[in-house]
Amino acid sequence: MDRTVIADIGKKVGKEVKLQGWIYRTRSGKSISFVVLRDYSGTVQCVVKEGVRGFEDAQKALIESSVELKGKVKKDERAPTGYEVHVTDFRIVGFADDFPIKDQQSTELLLDWRHLWVRSQKLNKIFRIRSAILGAIHDYFRSKGFFEIQSPSITTMACEGGSTLFEMKYFGQKAYLTQSWQLHAEALTSSLERIYCIAPSFRAEKSRTRHHLAEYWHAEAEVAWIDHEQSLKIQEGLISHVVQTCLKKHRKELQELGADTKMLEKVKPPFRRLPYAEVIERMEKKGVRMKWGDDVTDLQLRALSGDFDKPFFIVNWPKETKPFYMLENPDDPKTVLNADCIAPGESGGELIGGSARETDPKKILANLKREGTDPKNYGWYMDIRRFGSVPHAGFGMGVERLTQWICNVDHIRDCIAFPRTINRVYP
Ligand code: 4AD
Ligand code: MG
Repeated sequence: MDRTVIADIGKKVGKEVKLQGWIYRTRSGKSISFVVLRDYSGTVQCVVKEGVRGFEDAQKALIESSVELKGKVKKDERAPTGYEVHVTDFRIVGFADDFPIKDQQSTELLLDWRHLWVRSQKLNKIFRIRSAILGAIHDYFRSKGFFEIQSPSITTMACEGGSTLFEMKYFGQKAYLTQSWQLHAEALTSSLERIYCIAPSFRAEKSRTRHHLAEYWHAEAEVAWIDHEQSLKIQEGLISHVVQTCLKKHRKELQELGADTKMLEKVKPPFRRLPYAEVIERMEKKGVRMKWGDDVTDLQLRALSGDFDKPFFIVNWPKETKPFYMLENPDDPKTVLNADCIAPGESGGELIGGSARETDPKKILANLKREGTDPKNYGWYMDIRRFGSVPHAGFGMGVERLTQWICNVDHIRDCIAFPRTINRVYP
């Protein structure tokens, strides 16, 4: 008999099914056991009566034991999922020891037992949505004629400044784990023109915020022959496509996680372009301190995000706050042609950082000097500007940031299976 997954059980009422899964909850009387079975797709109550083969095992098996059973599906209004399986054959595949995770565990303990906690209903739902998000990112780029191409994770250059670089020994030479594919991607645009990649990026973030990981998945795109406004159109299209795909495929899971599906429904282009200078004006009106050149902190983002009911871009940041590769704004040279895409709400924040790229080698060198970076290490990057440089732009989106915001998750670590943060590299 073929296996039925629990989500499909409603289609099998009155029929005999084979289920495989793990014991989620169990309760036994003298001559009956109620075993709530879970598989990746859901849970269902299974009733095992005395006399059925395997009844004794059903009585003694602890939660998280793995099970294969056969039984008949009945509709039952009283059962939590609306169905019940009356078991005719019950077999334990692997008995479980006493499961160390009980109700109401501390966050630290759940992180120590992460390899078992990944089985939880909450993480299972988030990971399923995360999978849909990654699929939707690929679909979007491929539908727009992008090539997928990879760049190395080991590099000798900082893309986003030296302070968050992870240093490593590389056969007697100093190297780093990459912060972004961007610099290599810029070289590749002179070949493939429209490219994207989803890969891990690494940041030695000393900050313990709800939005920072040391290793995160980075969806990045780089495009030749486009200006910054064209890049913003790709970005708002990408986020909107991902959100609408999640609603289509996972509305139920989103609601169970407490996501704001009404707000998500509104996520469609265009997104508002808010100049950095206007952020300062808005902060003044709200009585929140901020002056030209300041980063936009979590506090300011929260004050601002009340003004918007869908993501928005903060554009044209002061040049000195942003990395060396950003294109100077020809209309206002103290700013750059860049944008951070900000999602509203507590679980929101910066989803995307992107810009048009500086093509003038003299300006790049001056920016590197201003950052205190030795231009000597950027030899091959400068070559891109020497051999047929063209206008180009790109951006990077944090996959866990996006997942956190869409699912309305309190802490980013629950948006990746095995989080790496300043104080955790186990399991
Ligand atoms: O703004 P960032 O630093 O931009 C870049 O790395 C560019 N080189 C991207 C590009 O233009 N190709 O990072 C981009 C995004 C952020 O907006 C955020 O979503 C995510 O990456 N991000 C992080 N996510 C989780 N943990 C961290 N420590 C993150 N740092 C950045
Ligand atoms: Mg950024």
